[in-house]
Amino acid sequence: MMVLGIETSCDETSAAVVEDGKTILSSTIAAQLDLLRKYGGVVPEIAARRHTELIGYVIKEALDNAGKTLDDIDAVAVTARQGLIGCLLVGVAAAKSISYARKLPLIGLHHIEGHIYASRLTNPDMPFPHVCLTVSGGHTMLLYVEDGDEYELLGTTLDDAAGEAFDKIAKFLGLDFPGGPVIDKLSREGNPEAFKFPRPMLRGKSFDFSFSGLKTSVINKFKDKVARDEKLPMADIAAGFQEAVVDVLAGKTMRAAEEKGVTTVSVTGGVSANSLLRTVFQEVCARKGMKVYFPTFSLCTDNAAMIAAAGYARLVKGEKSDLRLNVVPNAPLGD
Ligand code: KG4
Ligand code: ZN
Repeated sequence: MMVLGIETSCDETSAAVVEDGKTILSSTIAAQLDLLRKYGGVVPEIAARRHTELIGYVIKEALDNAGKTLDDIDAVAVTARQGLIGCLLVGVAAAKSISYARKLPLIGLHHIEGHIYASRLTNPDMPFPHVCLTVSGGHTMLLYVEDGDEYELLGTTLDDAAGEAFDKIAKFLGLDFPGGPVIDKLSREGNPEAFKFPRPMLRGKSFDFSFSGLKTSVINKFKDKVARDEKLPMADIAAGFQEAVVDVLAGKTMRAAEEKGVTTVSVTGGVSANSLLRTVFQEVCARKGMKVYFPTFSLCTDNAAMIAAAGYARLVKGEKSDLRLNVVPNAPLGD
């Protein structure tokens, strides 16, 4: 089955053609980096307008790159839940139009379900059940994944998402956007031991996260150095911050895996591209006799291939939406 996936929940306009939920024939992503740099982050209304301008071209390019036309497409999958309302509406309107005009089944999906499938697209043999950490600019979620589409939410962020903290710290330090890859690179030149930042909520029973206190601590350290007219060790600050985030993510995920009795861990979302995170997860999992899976780098950040793959899994179970499909900006996973 050939599924056209569409993803516009935040600032990437993306379309992809995926065969049988596992073979990516094309994946087109138009990122709004010029706007992000200009405004220092995503401005929802402006992002939605850019999606409107791009969506037609992006879908056409995805079809062309796959060597397909709409005649070859069997179903349309689209992110309808969790994201910026205006942005979601553009993708859903496009998907509904194609579904109506071509009489194709339509399936609306939760964005996080897509991230979960990004790991499966890369690692088709990844076993169930497992614990999945979805960690991106908009989400930090720890999930127990029973099978392909049965999830239990173990914990989530109480304030900033991990990627959001990376982006805000980078912005504060005067670095480029998005901040995650920049801090990742800068940290390689820094000493993570130079500053010991807090590891919020690492101890204790809860699987929830909080990164705003860590963010404040980093900003205070920076201001303190400026007030004393001291040299600013940017790479050390970046490395210390990154290590604190990764320690918390790895510590909680390992505890969740142990509590749930699973030996498989999956880490997805934009922050799963982080080099320290990958090294630390690999090391701690190896020590505990567990195995960790990541999506390939191009599937870590938002993309429509993961939506097409998640859509295929639901479609083969006979699930589909109809033309009343609406968007829900803050939907719990599983709705
Ligand atoms: O999954 P994604 O594209 O968007 C959301 O669903 O939110 O993730 C984007 C986030 C940004 O916050 C970005 O800074 C972060 O992923 N990110 C990284 C890295 N690459 C992207 N964070 C840390 N290290 C990276 N290498
Ligand atoms: Zn995402």
